[in-house]
Amino acid sequence: MNTPASRDGANTDSRAGTFATGGVDTASGAGDTHARGAHATGDIVIEARGLTRHFSISAGAFRGKKTLRAVNGVDLAIRRGEVLALVGESGCGKTTLARMLLGLLPASAGTIAFGGQPVANIDRLALARQVQPIFQDPYSSLNPRKSIGQIIELPLRVQGAADPSGWRRQVEAMMEMVGLPARLYENLPSQLSGGQRQRVAIARALINKPQVVICDEPTSALDVSVQSQILNLLQDLRRELNLTYVIISHNLAVVEHIATRVAVMYLGRIVEMADTASLFDHPRHPYTQALLESVLTPDPSKGIPDTHLGAAYPNPVDPPSGCAFHPRCARAMPICSQQAPADTITPTGAIACHLYQESSE
Ligand SMILES: Nc1ncnc2c1ncn2[C@@H]1O[C@H](COP(=O)(O)OP(=O)(O)O)[C@@H](O)[C@H]1O
Ligand code: SF4
Ligand SMILES: [Mg+2]
Repeated sequence: MNTPASRDGANTDSRAGTFATGGVDTASGAGDTHARGAHATGDIVIEARGLTRHFSISAGAFRGKKTLRAVNGVDLAIRRGEVLALVGESGCGKTTLARMLLGLLPASAGTIAFGGQPVANIDRLALARQVQPIFQDPYSSLNPRKSIGQIIELPLRVQGAADPSGWRRQVEAMMEMVGLPARLYENLPSQLSGGQRQRVAIARALINKPQVVICDEPTSALDVSVQSQILNLLQDLRRELNLTYVIISHNLAVVEHIATRVAVMYLGRIVEMADTASLFDHPRHPYTQALLESVLTPDPSKGIPDTHLGAAYPNPVDPPSGCAFHPRCARAMPICSQQAPADTITPTGAIACHLYQESSE
């Protein structure tokens, strides 16, 4: 695995809102400001600014309430047609961020725009038509009392789609598209395998032809043998239906296989964003490096990897000062516990770490 041999400050440009502009399009050439400008306008489908979600939780008997910052000031621009992966340890805020992007959870602060329109001004049903979820567990996300046909048809019914007499035909065509035999139309979810159930969830998400699909750990609950079939199906459907995906996964092999861009989250913030090849070939943020080092290799002679992460994941109710990663960071400097790093543009994305800021050179 590569580690930065030296600070990359010479290639960086510190500025606010970096993750929201999505950095530089490597296909257009690193450092091309026109490419960066293009991302900020036409081809951004969802844009979040300062997105924050706090939960008020009990601090214990007679101790009152405390605030848990699940998502803490996320700037994010999702480009049309991309597969953006959100990665990070359990509890870093991936699902909370996804639920806000879906309009299922209100933000405590910050804004989300869909197609340039503030989501707050978009009718809930209209948003659901364009942004659809696929959740981790196909066992609990399907109504056990409804038939497969009824489950896939429901979004057409809810949206009041035209021509109800043609709904069955549409459902059967979608079943075929996701690899479900039409004979399963009348079956109940309990009569299907895990992989088939996830195909039902995918068909239900796609029946109204959304623009964006947010997949929260879409293969984690499935047998390993089925996972790659579902991933390949998602890939094929994206090409056929021109979809944009946000994929949440703790499985970095899945991310490397499917994503075009990766956002690494730590304690409610995005700490590194890069195109997939750059992130895996040249991870820059010390946390990204530790995450990649923690991947088990199939070569038994290499043993169990050491993540060098040391201290346990911090308590989000009482986050560390400055850079929240500093108690676990092997490269921490005095400034790291005092000051949170600002976002810095890199040739392939953005990073929030004092190692890459001109002021700390
Ligand atoms: N409804 C809730 N009430 C209180 N805390 C929550 C709630 N939902 C999530 N959290 C907390 O927010 C943090 C982020 O959770 P989550 O978004 O589920 O993380 P991830 O999906 O990355 O594992 C965790 O500390 C979690 O316990
Ligand atoms: S800002 Fe400091 S503590 Fe945080 S990741 Fe960078 S070097 Fe480590
Ligand atoms: Mg989650």
